[in-house]
Amino acid sequence: MRLDFPFMMAPMAEITTPALRCAVREYSPDVILHSEMLSAAAIVAGAQKNSSMAEKHPFDDPLAYQILGSDPSMMADAAAILCEKGCFAIDINMGCSAPDILKKGQGACLIRDPHRARAVVESCRKAVSANLSVKMRTGFRSYDDVDPVGFAKMLEDSGADYVTVHPRYAKLGFKRTADWEITARIKRALKIPVIGNGDITSPATALERMRSCGCDGIMIGREAVKSPWIFRLCSDMLGQKGRTLEVDIEKLFVGVLENTKKYLPAELHKSRGLRFGFYFSGNAVYGHSLFTMLRKHPDLDGMIGVVREYYRRNPAEKTITFINGIPSAGAAGSRQ
Ligand SMILES: Cc1cc2nc3c(=O)[nH]c(=O)nc-3n(C[C@H](O)[C@H](O)[C@H](O)COP(=O)(O)O)c2cc1C
Repeated sequence: MRLDFPFMMAPMAEITTPALRCAVREYSPDVILHSEMLSAAAIVAGAQKNSSMAEKHPFDDPLAYQILGSDPSMMADAAAILCEKGCFAIDINMGCSAPDILKKGQGACLIRDPHRARAVVESCRKAVSANLSVKMRTGFRSYDDVDPVGFAKMLEDSGADYVTVHPRYAKLGFKRTADWEITARIKRALKIPVIGNGDITSPATALERMRSCGCDGIMIGREAVKSPWIFRLCSDMLGQKGRTLEVDIEKLFVGVLENTKKYLPAELHKSRGLRFGFYFSGNAVYGHSLFTMLRKHPDLDGMIGVVREYYRRNPAEKTITFINGIPSAGAAGSRQ
């Protein structure tokens, strides 16, 4: 396969909600979005709890659904159900290092069980007509307990259309910096596209990583929660389009909170609003106190009131202007 657009927003549990995906899409019509990770067992059981997470909205395309599990036939069934909704790709999670997931032998556990990993990919391949991808870590307890290049080649041989590499071993979580040299080695060994992921904080770093690692695309996670417009800046920089972009921070903040109400059930409003607010408050000069205030409110209407009040008191922070991907002088905060 060939990727028409080289940028992707990473799957992030409890964060890549429809509300945030809608905000990212407003700035970039082409970026490939991801759902939150979806338990294959829950999808197959038709669990009500998952339905809002698995729903696809008009703004979502192109969208990849990420599935989690370790049973090959269950994963294939879940992939087929999601594929019916129409999607760009089904992505298999081989990177999650949360203890409750590892206890079940899922996520990053699959990278130390190549036979099972192969069976999962092969059975999903048979079940889906959409692209099939795998998002992998590059080790489990250390960088030496898995051969990441051999593992990635096995994924390619088993039918994956592309592979996304987050080059930290699982037990590192987010500690230390991502080792992009491993991604470069994987890229050199594979024929299918390799997407690089890890620690991208600006459009300039995204392009530099793509160049130095030779990878075919870039996936951005945490920085895209703080800067949902980052993919637009990346594509402008890649196309050498010297465009100006003005972002209305208050409107975007309120819009995501409003859409959280619109697209998710009430029991998820507070947690999802806060998850987004934690990252997005980083745009404010007094982000820490803004987030502390958000936490005090039991519902999204209260949080929206806090945001409005913050920008009423700090009008200079309401908008940021980017010229050629760089914030213009006078922009507040530490944005790219
Ligand atoms: C809160 C949070 C939730 C995440 N959830 C998932 C997930 O569900 N599936 C997955 O493959 N990776 C998940 N990740 C990892 C990201 O997709 C990505 O690989 C990682 O954040 C490194 O990219 P970054 O440095 O651009 O953030 C999560 C990361 C964060 C911060």
